[in-house]
Amino acid sequence: MRSDYAGSGSVPENRTPWRLLEDWISAAHDAGSEEPEAMCLATSGPEGPSARFLLLRGLDAAGLRFYTNYESRKGRDLESEARCEACFWWPETQRQVRVAGRASRLSAETSDSYFLSRPMGSRWSAAASRQSREIESRHVLLEEVARLQREFPQGPPRPAGWGGYLLAPERWEFWIGRPGRLHERHVFVKAGSAWRRTLLAP
Ligand SMILES: Cc1cc2nc3c(=O)[nH]c(=O)nc-3n(C[C@H](O)[C@H](O)[C@H](O)COP(=O)(O)O)c2cc1C
Repeated sequence: MRSDYAGSGSVPENRTPWRLLEDWISAAHDAGSEEPEAMCLATSGPEGPSARFLLLRGLDAAGLRFYTNYESRKGRDLESEARCEACFWWPETQRQVRVAGRASRLSAETSDSYFLSRPMGSRWSAAASRQSREIESRHVLLEEVARLQREFPQGPPRPAGWGGYLLAPERWEFWIGRPGRLHERHVFVKAGSAWRRTLLAP
């Protein structure tokens, strides 16, 4: 399989990187992307590198927010090595964004309020699942959900081991696919309180 790229748009001079990511997520959504906020997060830890998709759940000048289980593989990785990188790819607009930085836990209050905003089904699942641990069978998991539903008919509290992270960016790369593989790569690197912009060869 071999497709050529003809991504559109450009990277305006005066847009901050996080605003630009916001623009590109909206553009992907308008172009028909079903999960424009899905990003692949790469971490590294004692067991080596690992990557998985997550949903972006907050974005502003401070960085990218996402929620997960702190005791999962990624959670354990981030405790030992805070540096990580998130990567978005939208085939609909032929654009990619990479955001590298350091992840730190969000406050318990922020995680609580996000947890309570989630649909009930997601709350039961988060409470029942010891993410990334081996389980005996799917049946055991369903039993645990049923047990929690009996114990907390109004919905489970946020598990202590589940919460959010802020990825504070140190480097952003905005990539636009262009014909003949002559792609555009715009990089923003942290320089004090500003961003230094450069262009990379494709
Ligand atoms: C599109 C998509 C979105 C996902 N969003 C999340 C998420 O926001 N949080 C999460 O913990 N897992 C999410 N997952 C599941 C993760 O990819 C992964 O299976 C899980 O977090 C365990 O990863 P780990 O063992 O590397 O820690 C998502 C998966 C997909 C395919």
